[in-house]
Amino acid sequence: MDYDIKDINLAKQGKLRSEWAAQEMPVLEQIQKRFKKEKPLKGVKVAACLHVTTETGNLMVTLKEGGADVYLCASNPLSTQDDVAAHLVKNHKISVFAIKGENNKTYYDHINSVLKVKPNITMDDGADLVSTLHKDKKGWIDEMYGGTEETTTGVIRLQSMANDGVLKYPIIAVNDANTKHFFDNRYGTGQSTLDGIIRATNRLISGNTFVVVGYGWCGKGLALR
Ligand SMILES: NC(=O)c1ccc[n+]([C@@H]2O[C@H](COP(=O)([O-])OP(=O)(O)OC[C@H]3O[C@@H](n4cnc5c(N)ncnc54)[C@H](O)[C@@H]3O)[C@@H](O)[C@H]2O)c1
Repeated sequence: MDYDIKDINLAKQGKLRSEWAAQEMPVLEQIQKRFKKEKPLKGVKVAACLHVTTETGNLMVTLKEGGADVYLCASNPLSTQDDVAAHLVKNHKISVFAIKGENNKTYYDHINSVLKVKPNITMDDGADLVSTLHKDKKGWIDEMYGGTEETTTGVIRLQSMANDGVLKYPIIAVNDANTKHFFDNRYGTGQSTLDGIIRATNRLISGNTFVVVGYGWCGKGLALR
């Protein structure tokens, strides 16, 4: 089994944290139970380029329970949780290619590693996986059933490819779902942006003046916090 992660010995901690996150993911749990019985994804190869976090990990395990062959790389080198990557490899035999802080070259090497398996479905967050597939691996596109794109920026990139007639397979714009942009972008990113700033600067924020540039869903959520 092919993979590239920081340290397989982090698997135990990754398992514990993934179980903690799963407690807040009851819908996924129900889907996982159904998938275990019905195996709707039997023989389907899924290539995912997403934030490698506990939540994504639980989603990958669910797809695997549904019968899919799952290959995961990181959509953002900074959000990768190395313990989750280790947990997925060790405890679920899922091929993960992600190391926190990886440089640009490794980032694209990892994207190419998941594309090498000639997937049938892509799950993308920012459209780097899909654009690399269209640029370098054109011959494989015939094998694609479809894909998903998570975020605003990715949807904009793919919409422009679709407008130019160069997008070669259908992709669901997850970001357009109300539960995504109304909730994840607004409340999730609102909270995590503030959390990130506090961790990075280690400052007391009371009394500071904030400027939020870009007043879309994420900007509104941050301003709200
Ligand atoms: N990391 C995450 O977990 C996560 C989650 C959700 C969204 N995102 C990303 O966050 C970004 C914002 O997403 P969103 O859903 O809020 O998008 P949005 O389209 O709702 O908002 C973007 C806003 O930025 C404004 N804008 C664009 N260019 C600007 C400029 N040059 N100067 C000032 N304002 C400008 C637009 O007018 C718009 O109001 C996107 O890149 C998205 O992909 C990241």
